[in-house]
Amino acid sequence: MANPIKVHEKALAHLSKGLYRSPASAIRELISNGWDAGATKVDIFTNAPTFTGLTVHDNGSGMSEEQFRALMDGGIGNSSKRDPLRQKSSAYNRPVLGRLGIGLLGIAQICTRFKVISKSAGSKAFAVEVRIEDIVREQVDANDPTVVQTDPNDPSQRNIFIGTWESLPVPKLDADWTGTQVIVTNLHPGFTQSFIATLRPLITNAEEQDQEMSGRVGQTAFPSPEQAQAAMPPLSWEKAVELSAEKESVMMRGDYWRFLWELAAACPVPYIRENAVPNGVVKDDQSRLESYQFTVTVDNRVLRKPVLLKKRTKGYSTVRLSHETIVRGVPLRLHGYLCVQEGNQLRPAELRGILIRIKEIGVGYYDPSLLDWQTNQGPRSRWITGEIFVEAGLEDAMNVDRDSFNRYHPEYKELQAYVHKELKRLFSTVYSKIQHRSAESAEKRATVHREVLSDVLEELSGKTVKLVSRETPKRDSVIAPMVSVQSSSRGITVDLSSARHVPAKAAVQNLAAAIMALYEVAQSQGKTSSERRDIFAASLLSLLKEW
Ligand SMILES: Nc1ncnc2c1ncn2[C@@H]1O[C@H](COP(=O)(O)OP(=O)(O)OP(=O)(O)O)[C@@H](O)[C@H]1O
Ligand SMILES: [Mg+2]
Repeated sequence: MANPIKVHEKALAHLSKGLYRSPASAIRELISNGWDAGATKVDIFTNAPTFTGLTVHDNGSGMSEEQFRALMDGGIGNSSKRDPLRQKSSAYNRPVLGRLGIGLLGIAQICTRFKVISKSAGSKAFAVEVRIEDIVREQVDANDPTVVQTDPNDPSQRNIFIGTWESLPVPKLDADWTGTQVIVTNLHPGFTQSFIATLRPLITNAEEQDQEMSGRVGQTAFPSPEQAQAAMPPLSWEKAVELSAEKESVMMRGDYWRFLWELAAACPVPYIRENAVPNGVVKDDQSRLESYQFTVTVDNRVLRKPVLLKKRTKGYSTVRLSHETIVRGVPLRLHGYLCVQEGNQLRPAELRGILIRIKEIGVGYYDPSLLDWQTNQGPRSRWITGEIFVEAGLEDAMNVDRDSFNRYHPEYKELQAYVHKELKRLFSTVYSKIQHRSAESAEKRATVHREVLSDVLEELSGKTVKLVSRETPKRDSVIAPMVSVQSSSRGITVDLSSARHVPAKAAVQNLAAAIMALYEVAQSQGKTSSERRDIFAASLLSLLKEW
C-alpha cells in the first residue's frame, strides 16, 4: 500500500516572508492583482524623496468586505482565480495571472502592517488594517499557542496565524469609484534607507565621506527639494531609460532607479515605441500590449518597457523566436526575439540576457546566463538581449517566488534546447557578418595604403609608379629582396608580391613592403650612402604621416 505524505502547515507560515527577490517583485504582485481585476491604471507612490510610505492604487473591479473576509478565513494559498471557466479574464482579453493565492501577502516582505481599502460595484467600500507578525517564525517553531491553534470546527486540524486584520473607518471616496488601494505606512527601514541612498551622492560632502570611511556614520541627512529632484529619474520615462543606458549598470544610479527599472521590465506595459528593438521584432507585441490598455505609474512616471536600442541604426542582428510543441502532454507555445548589438556592449548591464515572460509578466529579470548556455561567448554575451513571451506552458516550471525556474523541469529543458539552438544560429550569422565587415574594411585600408605608397614613391623618384602584387606560390621564408624594383624611361614598377609571405598580420605585411619599397627606390637616388639614408628617412616620414 502506498503511504501518504503530508505537508506540514508550518511550512506555509514561512511563505509570507522572504518570498521575493526584490521589493519590485513584491510590488509586481500587487500590479498583477490590479491587472487581473481589470484595472486600466495602477498608480504607485513612494513618498519620494523621504520614501516613508508606499501606496498602490488600482481602478479595477475591487473587492467587497465579505470577499476579503473569505480570503483571510479561507487561508493563504487558496486562489480561486484558476477556475477553468475564468482562464481568460474578460477585461481587454488579458490572460489571468493569479494562481496561487499568495501574491498579496508578498507585501509583508517590505512592511509589517498595511491597509487595504477597496470597493466593488454594488457593494459598500471597506477599509482594513492587516498586521503580519514579524516574530511568527520563532513562535511557530515553538508551537506558541497564540499562533498555533487547534481548529474549533475540526479538532484534527491546526491553524497557523500569521497575523491579524481589523476594520477601519472608511475614508471618503468618490461615489462611482471602484478599485483597490494598498497603503503601507511603516516600510522596513532597509527599504527606505536604500532608496534615500539613491540621493546620497548629491548630499554627501567630502567631510561626510571621510566620516563614513572612518566608520563614524551619522544620520542620513535629507537632501533639499532641489537636490532630491536632480537625483531622481526625470518624469519622462524615455529620458530616464536613456540616462540608465549611459551607465554600466542601473545600480550605479541607486536603488530607487533600479526599483523603477525592474518594475518597468516585469510589467505587462507597452514599449516606449514600436521600433524600440530594431527590425520591427516587437511591432506585433507592441500592438498586443497596447490593446490591453494597462498603465502603470510610479510617482507620476508612466512606465514602459525599459528597452530602447537605438544607439546606431546598423550593427544589429535579430532573430524572431517562435516555437510550439507538446512536452509530456502539456502544450508549450512561445514567441519572442533575440537581438545582438554587434561588437558593442549593451548598457545598462541589466538589459543583457534573456527575459522570460509568462502570460505577459516577467519571471525574474534578464538572465545573463542565457538559460545556462554552455558555449562560452566571452564578451559577446554582453551584446545580446532578448525576450520570450510564453503563451502556454512553463507555469509549473516556475518556482514559487515567480522570480526563477526549476531548471530541470521538462518544459524548461525544452525551452532551453530551443533557445540554445537559435542562439547558435544567430551567433554564427553575427560572426560571418563581422568577418565580412572586417575583410571589407581591411580591403579599404589596403587601397588607401597603396595610394599613399605610390604618392611617396613618385615624389621620391620623379617618375610614374606602378605597384604590382600577385598571388605567388607560398614560400617557407622570405628571401631578399622582399620587394623588387624595375626602372625604365616610362617609370618604375614595384613588385610587392613576395611581401605577402612575411609571417605577420596583413596590416604589418603591407607596412613592411612599403618600407622596403622606399628603401629600394632610395638606393637609386643619392650619391653617397649618407645622402641615400637621408632621402630614405625623409620619404619614410612622409609615408608614416599619411599611413
Ligand atoms: N487589486 C485587487 N483587486 C481586486 N481583487 C483583489 C486585488 N488584490 C487581491 N484581490 C483578491 O484577493 C485574492 C488574493 O490575491 P493574491 O494575489 O494573494 O492571490 P491570487 O492573485 O489569486 O494568486 P497569486 O498568488 O498567484 O497572485 C485574489 O484572488 C483576488 O480575489
Ligand atoms: Mg495575485
